[in-house]
Amino acid sequence: MPARRSVAAAPAPLTPSDYLRKSLSARVYDVARETALEPARTLSRRLHNKVLLKREDQQPVFSFKLRGAYNKMAQLTPEQLKKGVICASAGNHAQGVALGASKLGTRAVIVMPTTTPQVKIDAVKQLGGEVVLSGESYSDAYTHALQLEKKQGLTFVHPFDDPDVIAGQGTVALEMLRQLQTLGSNRLDAVFVAIGGGGLISGVANIIKAVRPEIKVIGVQMNDSDAMMRSVQAGERVTLPDVGLFSDGTAVKLVGEETFRGASGLVDEFMTVDTDAVCAAIKDIFVDTRSIVEPAGALAVAAIKQYAAQHKTKGETYAAILCGANMNFDRLRFVAERAEVGEEREALFAVTMPEERGSFKRFLEVIGNLPGGQRNVTEFNYRMSDSQQAHVFLGLTTQSKGESAKIAANFDKQGFKALDLTHDDLAQEHIRHMVGGHSALSQDERLLRFVFPERPGALTKFLNLMRPGWNISLFHYRNQGADYGRILVGLQVPAKDDKAFAKFLSTLGYPYVEETGNPAYRLFLRR
Ligand SMILES: Cc1ncc(COP(=O)(O)O)c(C=O)c1O
Repeated sequence: MPARRSVAAAPAPLTPSDYLRKSLSARVYDVARETALEPARTLSRRLHNKVLLKREDQQPVFSFKLRGAYNKMAQLTPEQLKKGVICASAGNHAQGVALGASKLGTRAVIVMPTTTPQVKIDAVKQLGGEVVLSGESYSDAYTHALQLEKKQGLTFVHPFDDPDVIAGQGTVALEMLRQLQTLGSNRLDAVFVAIGGGGLISGVANIIKAVRPEIKVIGVQMNDSDAMMRSVQAGERVTLPDVGLFSDGTAVKLVGEETFRGASGLVDEFMTVDTDAVCAAIKDIFVDTRSIVEPAGALAVAAIKQYAAQHKTKGETYAAILCGANMNFDRLRFVAERAEVGEEREALFAVTMPEERGSFKRFLEVIGNLPGGQRNVTEFNYRMSDSQQAHVFLGLTTQSKGESAKIAANFDKQGFKALDLTHDDLAQEHIRHMVGGHSALSQDERLLRFVFPERPGALTKFLNLMRPGWNISLFHYRNQGADYGRILVGLQVPAKDDKAFAKFLSTLGYPYVEETGNPAYRLFLRR
């Protein structure tokens, strides 16, 4: 008879009640704050549903991540704390671990990929973390962190796949459920949660399903970084070969084992959103709070808008967790530009018109008479390239979704062939900056840079005033949201007209700089 081996039973999986107990006794408030749950008034009015914002962007390190990291570290034994902790992260987890460790008086080694921006390295150092740069990607840094963990006897603090980390993140939901009562109604139909590795949603879903299971938990991912949704659909963890990096806080190729179990069993629905929708949501959040969140921090709001539109809901109450605000300042320009597209506040077109005098003016009249009221020209780029036809890259403000196709049809009807580029990534990201180049047709060209006060209708006024007898061979204008508009104009002025041209410029009265002698003009634009 074979000897019976005693096998240690695997611990039973934690239930929502277990997590409720763990979250209720989690230690997070040594470093984290109880953040506000507040109504987003403008967005609520627009969506005809009440939208509540959980302001995790206002945590000391500008994200919820310090809750889980600190709870994990606070459970360590004095011996473990004496040796120190280690993690691999280029983002918010790194800052959470560094802050928590300094509070607990322990050493924190943070392994970051060599590609990590200096601002993030500095932030971790400022919080007392020891930064080790290793490898080109997160996985390289992770492998190195595991080696250091062993070699130096450090304790690894996982960014998401650890019950203590999950329980720490669950305190967000505990607060929300309590705070609801202070907002006049206990009603909450759904909570929307961004997912990276799944720590936050596991924590939140366990609490919600233990206490108020009727509240829907909706997980939100980027459409190019949806490892959790795919894994749940496949019934097993799926590794994505690549992930989009725009929402860097949620860019995870492989979700955790425990977080996968939590999300598969407890999350009611998954949704994906795209970059333009996230940019528009960043703007919505700004309008209501005057705060700027990072892309991951806006996923939940983008999903609420999508959900309300898809299900045509009215009078429901939704909560979005604004999970982070570590936004690089230099990304704001991209976000502002794409927000207009995400909301369809700007439409873009390629308009073809006859290359003849008076065409621009006629076209401006068509713009002025478009149905739907006054529109501003946000962009007008043109370079002469053909003796028969002119192609203008045009941007116009719009008021509602779906308008661009109607405007294009209207241009067509008026004899200006128009291609709707509103949803064309190539046009959005590249072509708009590339209109121009040398033109063999532009003899006698003079190049002028004008500055004028940026007001509604300013460009139209400028073009109307600028109706000299000389042909416009180049025009470049982009509304940058600044107080002064900047326009570059090429005009074909024969030498014999020099005097008349000087007179025209002084009558026009706009400040200008003549750039005809600029070497950059010679290299890139002149004939
Ligand atoms: C701002 C922000 N949002 C969301 C997440 C995703 O959290 P989780 O990995 O727990 O799903 C992160 C993770 O770092 C984050 O920093």
